[in-house]
Amino acid sequence: MHAHEAGWAHAEGALRGPSWLRPPGDVNELVPHLWSMTASKGEDGQLRVGGLAVADLVADHNTPAYVLDEADFRARARAFRDAFSGYEVFYAGKAFLCTTVARWIAEEGLSLDVCSDGELSVALRAGVDPARIGYHGNNKSVTELRRAVASGVGRIIVDSFTEIDRLDQVTREIPDGSARVMVRVTAGVEAHTHEYIATAHEDQKFGFSIVGGQALDAVRRVLAAPGLELLGLHSHIGSQIFDSAGFEVAARRVLALQARISEELGATLPELDLGGGFGIAYTTQDDPADPQQLAVEMSKIVEHECRALGIPEPRLSIEPGRAIVGPAMCTVYTVGTVKQVELDGNAVRTYVSVDGGMSDNIRTALYDADYTCTLASRRSEVGPTLARVVGKHCEAGDILVKDEFLPGDLRPGDLLAVPGTGAYCRSMASNYNHALRPPVVAVRDGVARVVVRRETEDDLLATDMGAERD
Ligand code: LLP
Repeated sequence: MHAHEAGWAHAEGALRGPSWLRPPGDVNELVPHLWSMTASKGEDGQLRVGGLAVADLVADHNTPAYVLDEADFRARARAFRDAFSGYEVFYAGKAFLCTTVARWIAEEGLSLDVCSDGELSVALRAGVDPARIGYHGNNKSVTELRRAVASGVGRIIVDSFTEIDRLDQVTREIPDGSARVMVRVTAGVEAHTHEYIATAHEDQKFGFSIVGGQALDAVRRVLAAPGLELLGLHSHIGSQIFDSAGFEVAARRVLALQARISEELGATLPELDLGGGFGIAYTTQDDPADPQQLAVEMSKIVEHECRALGIPEPRLSIEPGRAIVGPAMCTVYTVGTVKQVELDGNAVRTYVSVDGGMSDNIRTALYDADYTCTLASRRSEVGPTLARVVGKHCEAGDILVKDEFLPGDLRPGDLLAVPGTGAYCRSMASNYNHALRPPVVAVRDGVARVVVRRETEDDLLATDMGAERD
């Protein structure tokens, strides 16, 4: 049972829903802060994004499809850049990356964080200045490190002693080879988020422990390597975090280590990266801070701690992914079937099956994530019914939206749109059940542009070596 199902109640033969889900005043209205900035619904109930009716987009591009609001994406990127002016803001490409988005990031003056060779390829193909790329990962191979060094990546965030040795070796092999390095540390913070996306507690795979002493040893080892230039420490406490207390504790512990490094090793580290993880609103329950507020809070903490420790303030960097791309996209599906399931003899849950599912959004199944959705193709005058939106995969856990009030007359052919799907949906999409991954259609000022096309059956069979037929 999901934690928030505790408040479920049956009322007049229908489920009333979890206690936090308030029935909407009007199923035809959007809750504005869950949607990208150009999204709106007209009198006709049609959802419009980027100056285009979603139904028209579907006529051209079919469903399921991710719709990316370019103005919204750019505005969020700019908001971080402006609020954190003087910082380096890295967009975390793992949330969603394609060459077009990498170019928007560069155009808006942000840097780019990649965490794999594949993401590095996209960044380089997009023409991103390698000096503005940060390279993450807890198991980078020698080949990957060689490529990073050879292409002049701006910073490599090291995560193990093995990697430090590998990187040292790589810089020796390459004539005049050198690398700017950050040491990822574990601050020992229990971030209030899902276990799988928390990364600053001790018992997980990322980082060098501060309390265990490995962080200081790692710094020593980097300082001893002639080809490695130590930029600073890196701390990322987790993802979808709302409470700044976690950042505060992490910053305090990391800066205390920084003071120790200066005292014991005589090294002043010029930079400090506090990672990403800033939460967004998936439902009306979530109340995220805006970049300005985050910037004020974070710089206050760092300023205060540095003064208390008597060390110079490092130049800060952050790595927001979700907070830039998450709200900028929605996913549009077509309803295929609507089924009433009886519970306890009289209460009913409506199951709405759409033409996508866990292959285009695994987050509900994997993290028990909450999403909302709306009827996007018409107005309904029928009152709300509590529905669960599910995908078309052969798995009972293939749920997209656990609970939502949808019009009682929902029928096959209706379009449903799910907001807040920009982060970790397309980037974690799979071909489960040999589904074709949906396209990403960018919209702006009434113009639609496919930035990632829909996969085809040929794509699907391209790696299947037995598929050739004469
Ligand atoms: N920096 C580092 C070192 C990270 O590991 C991450 C995310 C970020 C920045 C960006 O975090 P963001 O601002 O996007 O929260 N698949 C999960 C999230 C995994 C996050 C992994 N690291 C999800 O769907 O919630």
